[in-house]
Amino acid sequence: MPDLKVKLGPLELRNPVLSASGTYGHGLEMCHFTPPERLGGLVSKTVTPRPRPGNAAPRICETEAGLINSIGLENRGLDAYVADTLPTMAGADTVVFTNIGGESPEEFADVAARLDAEEAVDALEINLSCPNVDGGRLPFATSPESAARVVALVRAATEKPIFAKLSPNVAGLGDIARAVEEAGADGVTAVNTLLALSVDWRTGQPGVATVQGGYSGPAIKPVALRCAWECARSVSIPVIGCGGVATADDVLEYLVAGCTAVQLGTACFADPALPGRVVADLDRKLAEAGVATAAELIGTIADGRPAAGGSRDAHLQEAAR
Ligand code: SIN
Repeated sequence: MPDLKVKLGPLELRNPVLSASGTYGHGLEMCHFTPPERLGGLVSKTVTPRPRPGNAAPRICETEAGLINSIGLENRGLDAYVADTLPTMAGADTVVFTNIGGESPEEFADVAARLDAEEAVDALEINLSCPNVDGGRLPFATSPESAARVVALVRAATEKPIFAKLSPNVAGLGDIARAVEEAGADGVTAVNTLLALSVDWRTGQPGVATVQGGYSGPAIKPVALRCAWECARSVSIPVIGCGGVATADDVLEYLVAGCTAVQLGTACFADPALPGRVVADLDRKLAEAGVATAAELIGTIADGRPAAGGSRDAHLQEAAR
């Protein structure tokens, strides 16, 4: 059996497969589909200091190859998360990430400080990049300075490992990744959804009530993979890949591009049992390809020149068929 363990900064994951924030409940809602102990970790929906009702409906719109959402960070707020959700997570035999949000850098830090005392939380993912609030202006994700300011305050507020979730809707993503690394992040998640729009030309009605929303699903995989690669080559902290992942092959592509772990998101809406199957497929595919450990694939992307016959890549591609 191949060894799927990966080391994500200070965290040990039993495999590189994580749920993506907002697609897999807050905690253990999906445990009947995939037992948490099968996964590398669970990532919560964003938790904000106060309850948020979210955006007006419609908030979800399917397109040809993906999903546009405009949820608007609906959640019951930090008090309810601590009182109701975290006690149920205490026994979860997996790494628990709480994804946190706020309307100012100080609010992010307040949430982090409160969760610092919570044993059920293993790590924080800082949602710098929700495109569905503030009219899609992404105030924390679009410059190295603004991203670093949030991360620095969160760093000062907690000793838990922190991962900054970045946006694809920027130029110079590598600079932003470097800035959050310097501000004390233990890793980055690359990436959140792409700003997108869908409209019915007959009625003029947009797919979501906020007109624009965040695009996810298979269509974004090549874009998100490139973003993850750009982050991985820009920083020395680990990168968690996210965007369009639906199969074990997708996970392995993200590892080769430089990621240490990979989140499954939109595909879980159609098939909540998918993460468990992806883990099983990872085992099988690596065994078939003669790869002993998932970790050895991380960052092994070639330089783009055609490989000479018999290269590792050619061998793996053949074995994976
Ligand atoms: C949302 O709640 O609108 C989606 C969360 C996100 O994209 O960060």
